[in-house]
Amino acid sequence: MASIPDMTTIRRALDLAIHAPSIHNSQPWRWRWQEPVLHLYSDETRWLRETDPEQTDLMVSCGVVLHHARVALASLGWAVTVDRSPDPAQPNHLAALHFTADAPEPKLAARAAAIIERRSNRAAYTSWEVPSGIIDLLTGVGAEEGVMVVHVHGAQAHRGLVDAMAASESVRASDVRYQAETAAWTGFAAAAGVGVPTRNLQAATYELNRSPFVREHGTQLIDSGEDDASALFVIGTWHDDAPSRVRAGEAMSAVLLEATAIGLATCPLSLPVEVPGTRDSLRAGVFFGRAYPQVIVRAGWAHVSQESLPPTPRLPLDAVFEVE
Ligand SMILES: Cc1cc2nc3c(=O)[nH]c(=O)nc-3n(C[C@H](O)[C@H](O)[C@H](O)COP(=O)(O)O)c2cc1C
Repeated sequence: MASIPDMTTIRRALDLAIHAPSIHNSQPWRWRWQEPVLHLYSDETRWLRETDPEQTDLMVSCGVVLHHARVALASLGWAVTVDRSPDPAQPNHLAALHFTADAPEPKLAARAAAIIERRSNRAAYTSWEVPSGIIDLLTGVGAEEGVMVVHVHGAQAHRGLVDAMAASESVRASDVRYQAETAAWTGFAAAAGVGVPTRNLQAATYELNRSPFVREHGTQLIDSGEDDASALFVIGTWHDDAPSRVRAGEAMSAVLLEATAIGLATCPLSLPVEVPGTRDSLRAGVFFGRAYPQVIVRAGWAHVSQESLPPTPRLPLDAVFEVE
């Protein structure tokens, strides 16, 4: 048996992996095949500087595509070991994937179908609670990636998270540069293959979001009067550096794919983490000051009318992949 996959296999795996969710569908990653190693880089040409000045979303997005690639390769029979700090002198070089002779992890391989099925569902979900066994499963698959995944439950903790969302929204409401950037990446302004086009912004979101720049902020959904029983998870890391954020992205990918495989609707939420003040209050309220929040995931049972959503477009593989 060959010790490295052929080009057809690498391309098939990456074609699947680039369905990964990313902040505003910016796809801020670049892959390079330098036989026998597959390299992942962040691509700052698609960095949302106003939305994400600390590059948290950028790194989380790259972590998601890294985990998606691990899943896709495993589904094609390939196991990898990941060097997450391949070249400290080049901070945008995020990972080097080395192929091994090991059998791929069956749990990873089983999740490939969910990559194609998953959508960010920004509508209100139903009043059906997510059972505690599923909550445990989701926090468990995330924690396996070496981060903390906290299910925010109980009235007080829930209120704290909703308040942080509301506070971050009001900070952004007077930030014109942020608003201009959001407008440029969503709706009719979205360029070909990137951004979130109008058809992917659900009708329900328009009704519930008072915001003219459409983005799920959460507060309106949770406080909308609709009986939405979404479960909210905050993903946090022990350190607040780029490799930790990549790990948070890998964990978010694991949570999203597991939830999708179970039949749950999901959506990442990042606004309260992007605004320094509300990020601090999440750090204190959710992690008692001991971990750094990196991203939030909402999961729940979708209404029938919101069950099949159109895919958001992606850049072609050759725009984000090169062979040396
Ligand atoms: C780090 C990160 C942060 C995100 N934050 C939000 C958010 O705050 N609100 C939202 O509606 N979608 C958010 N998304 C979802 C993206 O908009 C979505 O992944 C992208 O538009 C592609 O669509 P898809 O997930 O349906 O494939 C986020 C995604 C990532 C990876």
